[in-house]
Amino acid sequence: MADRTPLAAGNWKMNGTAAALDQVKALADAQGSAASDILLCPPATLLQRMAQAAEGTKISVGGQDCHWNEIGAHTGDVSAAMLKDAGATAVILGHSERRADHAETDEIVRNKTKAAWEAGLMAVVCVGETLAEREAANTIAIIEGQLAGSLPEQATGHNLVVAYEPVWAIGTGKVPTTDQIGEVHDMIRSRLIERFGAGVGKSVRVLYGGSVKPSNATEIFAVENVDGALVGGASLKADDFGGIIAALDTAKG
Ligand code: PGA
Repeated sequence: MADRTPLAAGNWKMNGTAAALDQVKALADAQGSAASDILLCPPATLLQRMAQAAEGTKISVGGQDCHWNEIGAHTGDVSAAMLKDAGATAVILGHSERRADHAETDEIVRNKTKAAWEAGLMAVVCVGETLAEREAANTIAIIEGQLAGSLPEQATGHNLVVAYEPVWAIGTGKVPTTDQIGEVHDMIRSRLIERFGAGVGKSVRVLYGGSVKPSNATEIFAVENVDGALVGGASLKADDFGGIIAALDTAKG
């Protein structure tokens, strides 16, 4: 593998109040010597407290979305600079739940990614096909289109992570075959190299996301060009997420 540090990213979605910070401490205690990078993305209300709880540990903290503007009249929104100010080093962008629930287009995701980079955050940009798109054999074309439209120029191995998350695998317990995962990850790697050059293209981490659990993590992480996972439900419990991190360390170590 190229010089890509494996990354286990947890997306807490709209889950977690102050009591859940216990899980951060438990995870930090259990994973103090993990080789993989660990990122937890809690709801915005928990960001600052989680960043404080994670200080001095292996765990970095990120947001789940940001606005494309730095400040202004955008009720309910949070800017990348605000995430950074609260202690975030990264932000998830273009998650399929945002694309579906908030009508986020590739152009919006691209502008948000630019804003994240301007604030100095690493962007975890999500792409993925729906079940109808997969059944119509459109997966590759859909992901290529999302990549082309959602990624700005100026990508580097430090500011960009791509997460491949089939919409039909998120929160469903359904997981693509390792061949299906490999096909998409190889294609993403090729497109990144074509667009950004071999140096950058080989250094951007490409995560798989969608129903990753300790029980299926080893198989998924054995796939070439899978550099880690974006984990929803199983990132809420330190034991489960710790099991996934351990599998990633073993697979890529
Ligand atoms: P899941 O979610 O692990 O609960 O399927 C993944 C995600 O949406 O990032």
